[in-house]
This record gives sequence, C-alpha cells and structure tokens, in this order.
Amino acid sequence: MLKDNFGRAHDYLRISLTDVCNFRCQYCIPQENTKFMPSSRLMQADEIDVIAKVFVDLGVSKIRLTGGEPLVRKDAKEIIRSLSKYPAELTLTTNGTEVKEFITLFKDSGISSVNVSLDTLDKEKFHIITKRNLFDKVWKNIQLLIDEGFHVKVNTVVMRGINDNEIPDFIEWTKTTPVHVRFIEFMPFDGNQWNDSKVFSYKEILDIAEANCSFIRMKDAANETAKKFKPYGHEGTFAVISTMTAPFCSNCNRLRLTADGKMKNCLFSKGEADILTALRKGEDIVPVIKKCVSAKAEALGGQFKGDYHKIDTSKISNRSMIDIGG
Ligand code: 5AD
Ligand code: SF4
Repeated sequence: MLKDNFGRAHDYLRISLTDVCNFRCQYCIPQENTKFMPSSRLMQADEIDVIAKVFVDLGVSKIRLTGGEPLVRKDAKEIIRSLSKYPAELTLTTNGTEVKEFITLFKDSGISSVNVSLDTLDKEKFHIITKRNLFDKVWKNIQLLIDEGFHVKVNTVVMRGINDNEIPDFIEWTKTTPVHVRFIEFMPFDGNQWNDSKVFSYKEILDIAEANCSFIRMKDAANETAKKFKPYGHEGTFAVISTMTAPFCSNCNRLRLTADGKMKNCLFSKGEADILTALRKGEDIVPVIKKCVSAKAEALGGQFKGDYHKIDTSKISNRSMIDIGG
C-alpha cells in the first residue's frame, strides 16, 4: 500500500491520456494557441498498461482516465480495453462530445460511472465558455449515458458572474433526472486568470440551494471529496467540491500521472516524478513512485493554505489544468 508520511493510503490513480482537448475552456487551457505535447513524449498505450499494473500491484484499486479530453486520443479504445483487465475500478472524466462512440466499450470494460464536465445549461453560454458550439451533442450524450444505466456525475465549475445564476437550474435538473451534479469551487492553475473574487464558495452555493429546495446531507463515502446532498423527492443529487474554502486533503487517496508520464502526488504539487523516463531507461519505477508518495505535502501541495482571498497566484508553481489532467 502506498502510504505517505501523514498515514494516508493511496489507492486511487488518475491517468491523463492526453493534453489535447477539442474544447477551449479558459479556466483550463491558458490561451487559444496552446502547444500540445509531441506524441513521442506521451506515454504510449503499452507504457500506460505497464505503469498501471505497477500501481495496481502497489494497492491502487481505482483508476480514472482524464485529459485534456481522454476520448480524443486515437488509441483511447485500446487503452481502455487494456486497463479493464486489472482488478481496479475503471472510470473517466470526459467533456462528453465523443461518448456515443464509446458506450459499448464502456459496458464491455466494466465502466459503470462516468463524470461529464458541463458548466452551463445554456447553449449560448456553453459556446462562450468552451469556444465550441457543441452543447446539443454533449446534452444528448449525457442523456444517453443515463438511459444506458450509467451513474452520471456532472462537474460544474462555478464562476462568479458566469454561471452562479444557474445553480437553481442545475438542481432543478436533478428533480426528474437521476443525475449527480457536482458544483466545483473555481481553483487557480497556471494561466487560468483565477482571482479570489471569481470563486463562488461552498457556503454561497448552499445558501442558494437552501432557498430553492429542501435536502439532506448524504453520508460521506471513504475518501470523499464532495459534500453530497439529496433534495427530497428528487431522482438525482447535488454535491459541492469545496477545495478553496473547505479542503479535504486530510483523507486524500489520490495520485496523478500526467500524459507525459510525470507523477504528481497532488493536484497542486510543485514537484513531479519522472516515471516515464525511468521506465524507458529500464529502471525499476517502484522506488520512484514510493519516493513521490513520501514527498506529498500535508495539504494543497504545500502551496497555499488558509484564506483563499490571500492567495498570490504569482507564487504558485504548477502546470495548467489541461497539462495536469483534472
Ligand atoms: N477549477 C475547478 N475545476 C476545474 N476543472 C478544470 N479546471 C478547473 C478549475 N480551474 C474541472 C473540469 C473537469 C474536472 C476534471 O476539473 O471541469 O470537470
Ligand atoms: Fe477540455 Fe475539460 Fe479543459 Fe474544458 S475543462 S478545456 S473540456 S479538458
């Protein structure tokens, strides 16, 4: 088991398959002309398979594929198929555009839960946020996943003045649809024009929810990152991921691999361990992984703490979200 110096056991690995995305959400991609990584620098399908096996042997029991957009990678199907053989729950986070082509494979690979990113229910606003006119496609694919029996979580990054007014609509959606909306507090990453005034807090989100419906707090699962709520009589649920105002680092079980094979022990970690280069040199990657786990900071990559209003983003050293991979 991969235990860090704070006694946290790590059994959840998030693997980014690519830093490419067919959307251009500003909070994720620094600018329109981002340079993507050359494919030779990316972990190849067979390398992902070997690395994943090492992690599973070290106790990882859940693997999430992320991106960029994981399903735009040409060999995404091959990778999903190959990872499905391991005794680990397999899941993914997607922007939803390519889902239709993958439904059968998801089922055959034992994927039962899918996270889809969707920040607005308004077609025009969707175009503004993602710079792509693909709301209808994503909406239909979310519906398809639900109809096909998947557990669907929708990730909504709440940004003040952009989509905070849609919180009631998202909750209303859960009334007759078994969808699980997760409101995420806006987080600072390289180049994403974060500032504290754009953060719409957990408390503010709950205040709006309370004015709109009655709900009960659901029990936390082990290593839960979301505070989950069930509105009375609703088919679905909503949750808040309160990284900025109420971080949940004390029971973190997550490790990350970037598409170029660097391991991060936290979304906000400064340091990275170069797993892919070690693998390509024929070295044993187990000690590299263990050392990276041991170096994990107590909270938020050791980069900020306390009042989020006081964060100086120029002092944070990290990649952009699209380069880290959700
Ligand atoms: N703050 C909060 N969430 C973010 N995501 C991407 N960038 C940010 C950010 N700056 C979310 C995406 C996706 C998930 C992987 O992370 O919406 O659903
Ligand atoms: Fe693409 Fe997701 Fe980033 Fe938007 S948030 S640009 S959909 S990877």
